[in-house]
Amino acid sequence: MSLDHSHSDHVFYVGEDDSEFFRSLHGRRFNNLNHTYCLPADQDEVKRSELHQRMMQFVFSGRNYIGPVKEALQFGQHRRILDLGTGAGLWAISMADEFPRAEVIGIDLAPLQPRNVPPNCTFELCDINQIPIPYPDNYFDLIHARSMHTGITDYPKMIREIARLLRPGGLVLLIEPSLHPFSEGAEFPTPSSLSPSSSNSHWSSFWETYRNCLNRQGIDVSVPEKLADFLLASGKFEAIVQRDGNIPVGFWPQDPILLTVGQLQWMDFDLFLPAVRPLFLSLGLGERHVDNLIANAHEDLYHPPVDGLGCRIYIVHASKEIA
Ligand SMILES: C[S@@+](CC[C@H](N)C(=O)[O-])C[C@H]1O[C@@H](n2cnc3c(N)ncnc32)[C@H](O)[C@@H]1O
Repeated sequence: MSLDHSHSDHVFYVGEDDSEFFRSLHGRRFNNLNHTYCLPADQDEVKRSELHQRMMQFVFSGRNYIGPVKEALQFGQHRRILDLGTGAGLWAISMADEFPRAEVIGIDLAPLQPRNVPPNCTFELCDINQIPIPYPDNYFDLIHARSMHTGITDYPKMIREIARLLRPGGLVLLIEPSLHPFSEGAEFPTPSSLSPSSSNSHWSSFWETYRNCLNRQGIDVSVPEKLADFLLASGKFEAIVQRDGNIPVGFWPQDPILLTVGQLQWMDFDLFLPAVRPLFLSLGLGERHVDNLIANAHEDLYHPPVDGLGCRIYIVHASKEIA
């Protein structure tokens, strides 16, 4: 972890004892910087972050990205990459390994990242909702933000900030899974009944409760579906390319790669269900109700009421326009 935090009053020094950056809530550990982001910051979330990184590498055929990333990193002496909401930092570390001449910075609310990282990779603590994010204009060649919109209170504002931070021609890559996890997919074998309305299952109830709770936290739960619209509306980006796909959940795909993706996403959800418990409780839902919601959703995950459980993932890249 980088210890150089002197350039801003809202980036923090993390020493050996990092306990001041965490708080406890309903038996889980959370970040202490921002109480809007409502998932824990603990070892189970680190595991989930690892599963997500592996899963996305399978989705991207062994790579960490999609789109003209190499082209974006070909210009200039100092190539810089920023990972917003880096979590356990695995994408940033992997990019630092792949692009040893680039400087990779991951920022997050919690010091969850390993200390032993490639020399061109650093991590900093920072709340992205506190604009400006403390780097100069036109500083980065590539900005990546994956699966972190549930901690962002004004996503269009974050996109305007990304536009400020990127150099003209620099690339943004945004990846957000939908919060409506039943969906009918084009790329994957399509089961008969996968539309969100097709089932009043416990699985659906769980996700509906989660979306309601996020709404109450001031989070726009339709951000994943609107990534490209936001980029367009900012007026700062061109070559906006949307490349959505469906992620299988579970053990049903025949294709070995999709089966691996499905297994990894299944393991992710297995950890995700209990991770939401503190949010539900802190918004006043009764403990027995919450535990039933989670136990029943687990039951549906282990024994799905429909074949071919899946969830949609929204993937968009765009270049900052060259004025
Ligand atoms: C689900 S994890 C995803 C981590 C990583 N991007 C990945 O794809 O594996 C979301 C991360 O975003 C971070 N995050 C959420 N809101 C944030 C904010 N306002 N500022 C900084 N980080 C934030 C959380 O702390 C968490 O580590």
